[in-house]
Amino acid sequence: MRYKQENMVKVYVHDNKSGIDYRESHNSGTELSLDELAQLGVIYKYCATEAEVDEIAKERQYKNRDVVDIHQGSFKNETDFNEKLAMFYKEHLHEDEEIRYCLEGTGYFDVRDASTPENWVRCRVEPGDLLILPPGIYHRFTLTSSNHIKALRLFKDEPKWQAINRSTQADSLPVRKDYLSQINQY
Ligand code: LAC
Ligand code: NI
Repeated sequence: MRYKQENMVKVYVHDNKSGIDYRESHNSGTELSLDELAQLGVIYKYCATEAEVDEIAKERQYKNRDVVDIHQGSFKNETDFNEKLAMFYKEHLHEDEEIRYCLEGTGYFDVRDASTPENWVRCRVEPGDLLILPPGIYHRFTLTSSNHIKALRLFKDEPKWQAINRSTQADSLPVRKDYLSQINQY
């Protein structure tokens, strides 16, 4: 697998500042390496082409995918657009592993740092960036201030749209416990 040397995905601790639009960078100045990201169970790869994505999907036995194109024009009105963004930005987990591959535009994937649970680790993706999110990791997503991303979403099985919002109930799910025990073993 080739890694992009320049413009590589930027990974850093979110500044946790509220009152500033979540599409701003919120860079606290503390950067993380890809190894540190991997310690949270999140794998980053640069894929120059979709054929490289297909290889990963095949290796990991992914069965489904779709493309999302998120920008204001894909919604009826600004309210719907803002509601969708707010939904993506709610802290949640999924029961399956998932792959996200940026085709156009830019976006922020925030994942919780399990060892410092008040911290978010922000990954700024641009075209060619691929992230594999493990099942059970709390995360959220938003656009950047450029307000556009086109991304491939790959699902292991049937697309499970279900996002399980953070709660004590979600905390006690087997998928959450498995995630935590896996990263502690790292
Ligand atoms: C995802 C983000 C939107 O799972 O949470 O794709
Ligand atoms: Ni999600």
